Amino acid sequence: MPFLQCIESNCQAQFDTHSRIYTCERCGGLLDLVHEVRAFDPEQLKRSWDQRLASKEPANQSGVWRFRELLPEVDEANIITMIEGNTQLFDAPRSAEYAGRGQLTFKHLGMNPTGSFKDLGMTTGVTQAQKLGANSVACASTGNTSASMAAYAARAGMKAVIFIPSGQISLGKLSQALDYGATVVQIDGDFDDAMRLVRDITKDSPLYLLNSVNPFRLEGQKTIAFEMLQQRDWQVPDRIVVPGGNLGNSSAIAKGLLELIEMGFIDHLPQITIIQAEGANPLYQLWQRIQSEGSDTQALQPVKGATTLATAIKIGNPVSWQKSLRGLLKSHGEVEQVSEQEIADAKAIIGRDGIGCEPASAVTLAGIRKLVAAGRIQPNEDIVAILTGHVLKDPDYVVNYHRGELSFTDKLGQKHLLSSNYASQWIQVGADRSEIEKALSL
Ligand code: F0G
Repeated sequence: MPFLQCIESNCQAQFDTHSRIYTCERCGGLLDLVHEVRAFDPEQLKRSWDQRLASKEPANQSGVWRFRELLPEVDEANIITMIEGNTQLFDAPRSAEYAGRGQLTFKHLGMNPTGSFKDLGMTTGVTQAQKLGANSVACASTGNTSASMAAYAARAGMKAVIFIPSGQISLGKLSQALDYGATVVQIDGDFDDAMRLVRDITKDSPLYLLNSVNPFRLEGQKTIAFEMLQQRDWQVPDRIVVPGGNLGNSSAIAKGLLELIEMGFIDHLPQITIIQAEGANPLYQLWQRIQSEGSDTQALQPVKGATTLATAIKIGNPVSWQKSLRGLLKSHGEVEQVSEQEIADAKAIIGRDGIGCEPASAVTLAGIRKLVAAGRIQPNEDIVAILTGHVLKDPDYVVNYHRGELSFTDKLGQKHLLSSNYASQWIQVGADRSEIEKALSL
């Protein structure tokens, strides 16, 4: 039976999965769901997971529940699924060239039912909420978590309450949450304020907390690693590159990989590489301190007034930093930061590969390019980068970039117009064939 365990080495208190708790009741530390993974035969499980790819059962078709031997226990009939996962691995030649490399693969989690990787964690989170008898769920969000939670709560017939920072989430994401029937609580503050408040309110109210501090969310998200490796016939890439915001996803991927090692599915870890926006870079700062001082026992210092146009990762005080750091240290990973200009250009290039993504996802390519240029990524490395959200999540950003009107206000309140270095052509002409031919040089 899986159980919850505090990650703090001097605590390690255990709790059963029927308790409605989000963090350790003894010391307040983050909790892991621990599985007795050694009890499985890897070869048999791989065969069974492959067979499920051809099944018509929702629990087998889901790219999360297909791996249910390593997930929280639940009756199949009670799973709340939208057949999430099953996201493609894309070869991205233009992006690879832009980064100065011969090869680059994207796993595009934006191809999930609500357009982001959050669906992987919400199918397990909402299923657990229902198992515990909750009939209302809540989260703070920069947009995607709320869109996803609202959808899965609606599927389960639950009430969804979302806490969002005032005026700082893209309309695409907000409109999803409204469409799926969520109650929207707009807070006069930033994401970190919303997070603090929702954690406080869910401590002693009927609302069940579904941010990634909830370990059942990360259980679903860890299947990113399982599915990616299943798609690659269990060939481990040298490096996995992922954006860092609240740091749940990098934590989840690391947990999945560590379980696979423990079970003997794989024999080494890929280097986990986390990229943050310069204006919202608390993990990058912590990593710099760890590198320069050689001690990994330091605490993350929150960034006050985090700022980036990649609103999904505009977060100064990430809740899962300890778990994320654990994955970085175990995998000999890296953290890099990228500028607004680098994000905007990288996003345009990913679009040219015909797949597109939202701004937060594009930090991956921007970061890879920077690490290649610095000689910190070797030319022959096999890299999988995780795209986290769909291009249509934030259409304003796209249109502004291609019109040459994308601007960014820094922490000091100074506005900078970004260069549209890879803008697509946008031609305004009269309704006249010869004018069009002339404009297109036909
Ligand atoms: N990319 C996208 C598109 C996101 O929406 C997020 C997080 C991240 C990357 C960062 O992932 O937080 O696990 O490190 N979005 C959250 C939200 C915070 O509320 O939707 P992380």
